[in-house]
Amino acid sequence: MTGRINIAVIGAGVIGKRHVHEIAHNDACRLAAIADPTPEAAAYADTLNVPYYCDYREALARGDVDAAIVCTPNHTHLEVGLACIGHQLPLLMEKPIADDIDSARKLADAATAVGVALLVGHHRRHNPSVRAVKEAIEGGRIGKLVMANIMCLMYKPDAYFEVPWRRQPGGGPVLINLIHEIDLLRHLCGEIVAVQAVASNGTRGHEVEDSAACTLTLANGALANISLSDTTSAPWSWETTAGEDRALFDYRPVPTHFFAGTDGALTLPDLALWSYRAKKGRDQPIQETRLPMVEENVYAAQLRHFLDVVRGDARPVIDGHDAARTLAATLAVVEAARTARPATPLFVQ
Ligand SMILES: NC(=O)c1ccc[n+]([C@@H]2O[C@H](COP(=O)([O-])OP(=O)(O)OC[C@H]3O[C@@H](n4cnc5c(N)ncnc54)[C@H](O)[C@@H]3O)[C@@H](O)[C@H]2O)c1
Repeated sequence: MTGRINIAVIGAGVIGKRHVHEIAHNDACRLAAIADPTPEAAAYADTLNVPYYCDYREALARGDVDAAIVCTPNHTHLEVGLACIGHQLPLLMEKPIADDIDSARKLADAATAVGVALLVGHHRRHNPSVRAVKEAIEGGRIGKLVMANIMCLMYKPDAYFEVPWRRQPGGGPVLINLIHEIDLLRHLCGEIVAVQAVASNGTRGHEVEDSAACTLTLANGALANISLSDTTSAPWSWETTAGEDRALFDYRPVPTHFFAGTDGALTLPDLALWSYRAKKGRDQPIQETRLPMVEENVYAAQLRHFLDVVRGDARPVIDGHDAARTLAATLAVVEAARTARPATPLFVQ
């Protein structure tokens, strides 16, 4: 493929606008169309002087679109994704790939069957600090991983909940936020094989949960804890500490992700590496060093990767089947919390 890649953005809400911004700042692509049924989206497309479609199917049928970025609510991902695949358009599908496993499998299988590239928007995989920690863990810098401890504690402003789907099952912090933690955990530490969880809607009182606590068992025998809430006034969430979107979120780079092994410990996003100088033991001095940090715009990096995927120069770092496994582990949290019993993620081929 030569020349600029023409991209249609379907769904011009919070994250859709971020993708539009990144497209505008990448010379290798061009925004070909915006599709979203709301008058706000029509006005937004007008300000950008970009062709606007109320019905996304008309945007896909333009004939000059090379790829699509799908940023619609979770329950629409299957329908919109299948339509893109039907037009042979490589797509970046926002996470979660779908809101149930059957839909995720259908989407992943459809993309594979016709050879259309499907990248799922678990953007943290493009973060250089995540890459550094992955290399450090896989390189044995902390020995055998024993425990991971992740905090995802934030306060979503009341206006966020004016959109009805965010108050309903599937629109809460488990499928919107925890899924990022689960994907990060799978990416850094390996597959999740068992899940225990408790969830609560006791603070916000919406139909969907506002908080959850999960304990996960990994295939390599390590254990992980994740604390999740969208109703706590705390800095301890990736959104606040990693600085990936400083226009949308405050930035306080305190550690939120802790990885402890037999020979050392690492934290994200600050890249602290803790280890004993000589003899191991809690009576011995433990010292802190830092892995080198590289600042990068992860959404821009994700877009560059997507363009490589569209050109056929790279395989998606997270494709439909991989994302379906992340969804399966996340849905196992929902199941474990609902039944008050341990759940096993349904492994997806
Ligand atoms: N990767 C990330 O960092 C990240 C961040 C936020 C949201 N997301 C994901 O992105 C998706 C959208 O989330 P959001 O917060 O931007 O939601 P949002 O409600 O702000 O935006 C969704 C937009 O999609 C439009 N829409 C609904 N149905 C449509 C259809 N059939 N065709 C075209 N447009 C349609 C809505 O009008 C709205 O403008 C969700 O799947 C969410 O999980 C990802």
